[in-house]
Amino acid sequence: MCGIVGYLGPLNAAPVLLSELKCLEYRGYDSAGVAVIENGRLCVMKAAGKLSNLENLLATQHPTAKVGIGHTRWATHGVPNDTNAHPHIDSTGTIAVVHNGIIENFEELKEDLINKGYAFSSDTDSEVIAHLISYELSKGGEMLDVILRSLKQLVGAYALGIVSQEHPDRIYAVNHHYSLSVGLGQDESFLASDSMAVRQYTNRVVRLEQSEIAEITTQGVRLFTFDGTEVKRSPIAMDSSPYVIDKCGHKHFLHKEIHEQPLVLRQTLTKYLRHPNHPIDFSVGDVDPEANDGTAYGVHLTDEEIKGLNHINVFACGTAYHASMVGKILLEELVGIPVAVDIASEIRGRKLLVNESTLAIAVSQSGETADTLAALKEAKSKGAYTMGITNRADSHLAQITPNLIVTECGIEVSVAATKTYVAQLASFYLLAIYLAEKRGTISADKAREMKMQLNSIPTMVEQILAREEEIKETSIKYADAHDVVFIGRGLNFPTALEGALKLKELSYIHASGYAAGELKHGPIAVLDQNVPVITVLMPGTVYEKTLSNAQEARARNAKMIVVAVDGDEQAAKTFDSVLSIPPIDELFSPLTTIVPLQLLSYFISDYLGKDVDQPRNLAKSVTVE
Ligand code: G6P
Repeated sequence: MCGIVGYLGPLNAAPVLLSELKCLEYRGYDSAGVAVIENGRLCVMKAAGKLSNLENLLATQHPTAKVGIGHTRWATHGVPNDTNAHPHIDSTGTIAVVHNGIIENFEELKEDLINKGYAFSSDTDSEVIAHLISYELSKGGEMLDVILRSLKQLVGAYALGIVSQEHPDRIYAVNHHYSLSVGLGQDESFLASDSMAVRQYTNRVVRLEQSEIAEITTQGVRLFTFDGTEVKRSPIAMDSSPYVIDKCGHKHFLHKEIHEQPLVLRQTLTKYLRHPNHPIDFSVGDVDPEANDGTAYGVHLTDEEIKGLNHINVFACGTAYHASMVGKILLEELVGIPVAVDIASEIRGRKLLVNESTLAIAVSQSGETADTLAALKEAKSKGAYTMGITNRADSHLAQITPNLIVTECGIEVSVAATKTYVAQLASFYLLAIYLAEKRGTISADKAREMKMQLNSIPTMVEQILAREEEIKETSIKYADAHDVVFIGRGLNFPTALEGALKLKELSYIHASGYAAGELKHGPIAVLDQNVPVITVLMPGTVYEKTLSNAQEARARNAKMIVVAVDGDEQAAKTFDSVLSIPPIDELFSPLTTIVPLQLLSYFISDYLGKDVDQPRNLAKSVTVE
């Protein structure tokens, strides 16, 4: 789970690698490093911690090499330190490897190589690859064959970048169940795990398919399958609009992204819903078909296929899982089909009951989360229709499903997801109405009324954001808590989970979300006067019962905070602090109830001096299972 980059061409490689790595820091920031070939010698520079540490190191070294590979790490095997940072080199110091993924049989390979006299310096699984290539090289053969022989011995999923001192004119890149792109410029080539990282230099890109190796030179790229057969593939043209990373006057990206929510909701809604009187149209493209970039766009299920569905399975992780929990309730309510939502990593090793009448949906902001992709692939292999909901039309997810709903959020820089969560929710509302209309489970009037309500949400979010000073004042009162409990029922149980996740991620305060009715079945034992309980209390079917559950917490002297609608007198009487939002229909409330909770976590994190945009131990996109 890491980011890989590479460069060869007329420019100094180190600054180019650094600028590519800056675009990939979301994949991990435990350490970073580069390997360049400087005056015929392989030279590795790496540093634990944020990319800025590597930047400072490079500023003291001034490498002028024209070829190199780089890496940003999210630690899986071995603590984050300089030694475990990539690139890893072989014992002769002539081969360097950067790796994303996990080599499952590394211990066995390592033992074997140690017995053959190879000396290891790190605790990583990745180092074994450098030594293995070195060993295979000692047996003779062309570099391409040597690498292919080495790959045959690796078990696991991986993407690699490889340079060798003996071949300063090329980089080898390997993709086995990940994403890797080669950018082609004028007499220069680039390598990156995410094509976004090469967009600043070129819009001509060749994507590696699964189980392919690329031999990259300044003049282009040659692709081969793992059995050595050459594959011809033309470059695709990417959207060439610049990738802008700017806080636009906000103190943090997170604050900016929370404030972008009205805009992303409007963009996502209007993309698929031109007017409340019109049907939702998912056939609209996310990429210009002329651009021939190979990714799916739109939803292509026929009316007959939609009518024939008898089950929906949703797979997601983290914040996307919480959005999917809301999606389940909406789909069951409006479409009347049973929906199962699974944490994607829980699918492994389990019997997945899907068939030709199942729609399997993967929800992933990045479209790269390994667990989510694996679950969707398994459902696909069993004959299910597949669909993705993602913010990245150019992601791995887009390549494995023909049906794609793309949220219009722009890049989300902050590691904690905010704007992409509300956009995923909006996508589920649209999808539920779309399927319900197609299957005739809601009337045209009801559909029109719901579309109008959806269109009013962005303005409500704006109204909540306008209250952020009040929310800040309330939030800071609870910043000294060590444990916080969030409760909600029905559609707002996922809100409680997401609220707790945001607080944990951003402030490192231990927080748990519970179904309000479940509090009494155990979690209530943790409550006392030191534990704030945050209740999401929306008028509607579960109002009274949620209020009773909150009373149970109050009776244990917990500090009581509530997200309630304006004018809720009962809430004002029962709770110590009220985070009020404009009145909203219960069915749509998850779209707004989360906003004060995002702000609460943001203000507490900032007040405590935490790293708001890059919280410790996290990565935005986790590409290992
Ligand atoms: C990581 C991130 C979470 C995110 C989850 C799923 O764990 O830290 O914020 O929700 O991955 O990411 P995805 O890109 O699949 O939505």
